[in-house]
Amino acid sequence: MRVQTACLGLVASLPTAFAYWPSYYSQNVNVYSNQQPDVTIETLFQFPNNGSWISNLVTRRDGSLLLTRLDTPEVWTLDPTNGSAAMLHSFPMVTSCFGISEIEDDVFAVVIGNFSSKTYQPTPGSFTVQKIDFTSASAKTKRAEAQHTVSEIAAIPEAVALNGMTTFSRESHLVLIADSPVGLGWKVNTQTGEYSVALNNTKLRPAEGVALPLGVNGLKALNDYVYYSSTTRMEFGRVKVDSEAMPVGDYETIASGFLPDNFDVASDGTAYVATDPQNSVVRITPYGQIALVGGGQLSTKMPGATSCRLTSDEKTVYVGTSGGQVAPVLGQFMEPAKVLKITLN
Ligand SMILES: *[C@@H]1O[C@H](CO)[C@@H](O)[C@H](O)[C@H]1NC(C)=O
Ligand SMILES: *[C@@H]1O[C@H](CO)[C@@H](O)[C@H](O)[C@H]1NC(C)=O
Ligand SMILES: *[C@@H]1O[C@H](CO)[C@@H](O)[C@H](O)[C@H]1NC(C)=O
Ligand SMILES: *[C@@H]1O[C@H](CO)[C@@H](O)[C@H](O)[C@H]1NC(C)=O
Repeated sequence: MRVQTACLGLVASLPTAFAYWPSYYSQNVNVYSNQQPDVTIETLFQFPNNGSWISNLVTRRDGSLLLTRLDTPEVWTLDPTNGSAAMLHSFPMVTSCFGISEIEDDVFAVVIGNFSSKTYQPTPGSFTVQKIDFTSASAKTKRAEAQHTVSEIAAIPEAVALNGMTTFSRESHLVLIADSPVGLGWKVNTQTGEYSVALNNTKLRPAEGVALPLGVNGLKALNDYVYYSSTTRMEFGRVKVDSEAMPVGDYETIASGFLPDNFDVASDGTAYVATDPQNSVVRITPYGQIALVGGGQLSTKMPGATSCRLTSDEKTVYVGTSGGQVAPVLGQFMEPAKVLKITLN
């Protein structure tokens, strides 16, 4: 009864865009609990204000993290050894930053564009891919705290709302970027700026009848496959691709029934997926078994977990959050965005 009441409060507080979620909330909230992996979870850093929203994060070679923000067009840097964070770059003339991925040693591509974190409406045509370079000669001559240069890789005016990004091949300079409302994976050559559609499938499109058109969200290229999360379809899957990132197999659903946001995949195919309004990170084996790693529907440990990133040794998962803005925990609890460290024991 208590849970039922809480769920009603939660649903009542959601924007109408999220009205499709009640069916999900009636599911057993403890569905994963009997397989919980052995982990320790700590908070590394939290922004001061409600409304802050980390959309993605990535690790640098020196062990520090880069965070992209959706509520403001900023990229932040965070030292996980002492929780020290600072703004690295603010992009002019846009509202938001999304996917971020390393394209060469200490060179990163970042998706930016206009998106309202209040109404969830993108501005189609406003999306571009930018480069943050920590290695260029001019970067090295700058002040210690700002040793980077920023330049545009490509504008993609045909895109509706670019979101997660993965480096497909460093050798051929290709990244793949999710276009969430239309269910596409754009392929961008980060050297030439040329772009085209690589992935286009029903499984990447928003579920039918949902008010919020959010299909493919995150992407990750690994071992001849591109893994994807498709949020309103509540599916996590993969498709085999050729060396040009063109599909050569079926879109295979690996696991379903939860709301996947951004994720990372370990070299053995084990995925760590942030479940944003479900306030958790789940682990998915290559065979589709789901286990709760941390947080939970009614937990305030990681409200609005948006993104996961494994360290190169695959012993740690960093998690970024939105503080629960999309669906406050129990319909009420919200907090500023934060970064957690999950140590896989
Ligand atoms: C955190 O560590 C970095 C690198 O060792 C150092 O530059 C920075 O001053 C430290 N910040 C705090 C708040 O201790
Ligand atoms: C994107 O938002 C910025 C900041 O609000 C605004 O200056 C710019 O004109 C917008 N761009 C488009 C294409 O609407
Ligand atoms: C994606 O595929 C659909 C269905 O085959 C097609 O109608 C649409 O034009 C394609 N979109 C792009 C951008 O290629
Ligand atoms: C954030 O919002 C919550 C309401 O969910 C409020 O209790 C809390 O004090 C706010 N925190 C900050 C830092 O403003």
